[in-house]
Amino acid sequence: MYKYFCLNPISPVGLEKFSDDYVPAGEMAGADAVLVRSAGMHELEFDKDLKAIARAGAGVNNIPLDKCAEQGIVVFNTPGANANGVKELVIAGMLLASRDILGGINWVQENEEDGNIAKDAEKAKKAFAGCEIQGKKLGVIGLGAIGVLVANAATHLGMEVYGYDPYVSVDSAWRLSRSIHHTKNVDEIYKECDYITIHVPALEDTKGMINKNAISLMKEGVVILNFARDVLVNSEDIVDALVGGKVGRYVTDFPTPEIAGVKHAIVIPHLGASTAESEDNCAKMAVEELKDFLENGNIRNS
Ligand code: MLT
Repeated sequence: MYKYFCLNPISPVGLEKFSDDYVPAGEMAGADAVLVRSAGMHELEFDKDLKAIARAGAGVNNIPLDKCAEQGIVVFNTPGANANGVKELVIAGMLLASRDILGGINWVQENEEDGNIAKDAEKAKKAFAGCEIQGKKLGVIGLGAIGVLVANAATHLGMEVYGYDPYVSVDSAWRLSRSIHHTKNVDEIYKECDYITIHVPALEDTKGMINKNAISLMKEGVVILNFARDVLVNSEDIVDALVGGKVGRYVTDFPTPEIAGVKHAIVIPHLGASTAESEDNCAKMAVEELKDFLENGNIRNS
């Protein structure tokens, strides 16, 4: 028998994949395996029974990897399992930044009781006018599972797409639409693009990569989208650039205190992977990985 513990609620569609040999544990102590979504694990103690942690998601920055390595605990993630959910929210983020959908919705809510909507409709059309994304240049930094989906979807919306990833060669980026301009120089993206979206992991050399130096190369009014990790963007520099107008909009899925409430920031409470489909896919992949490891010793996505 194996005991597993869910540190966060995990989709039942995934948990159903456990056979009768697996029993849920009421606490982490004594469990063979832990399933986790976004809960921070850095402060937790792991006892000797714990063999594996499966993160139902891509990023593993909530897990103390060094401590796990020291204690021989294998850590899995589920790359790609929620990529479509994130891709769809990135596209929505570009549209939110380009059309004042939120301003218009708020205006209707504020005015509906007074019956002013029909009377002021023409004023609203002017006040909430936006621009189209078709024909604009999008730079995608990071061509992993999510970046590739975003890049391909944007070409279908008529955008001119630039892709950059130091670890993906032009030849191996076969999943990219042929019409994407694959650049080896990230500065080209900073200089050329109207929209820039980041899809890289939070590593020592990517932390703070969007800082005042990078921003200084960008176009006036550029839209930056961050659905990857908050630490990739230097918060002080992005706030300055939003206040000064160099960055037109910053769309982020990370509601940190530094950015919440800043004018022209569109702040979403980490909802990229919050779809039924993504949650089911992540849970299924995480459970399959745990079972394959505990029963067969196989290690995938570690
Ligand atoms: C991820 O890293 O894939 C996301 O943080 C997933 C999530 O929202 O749990």
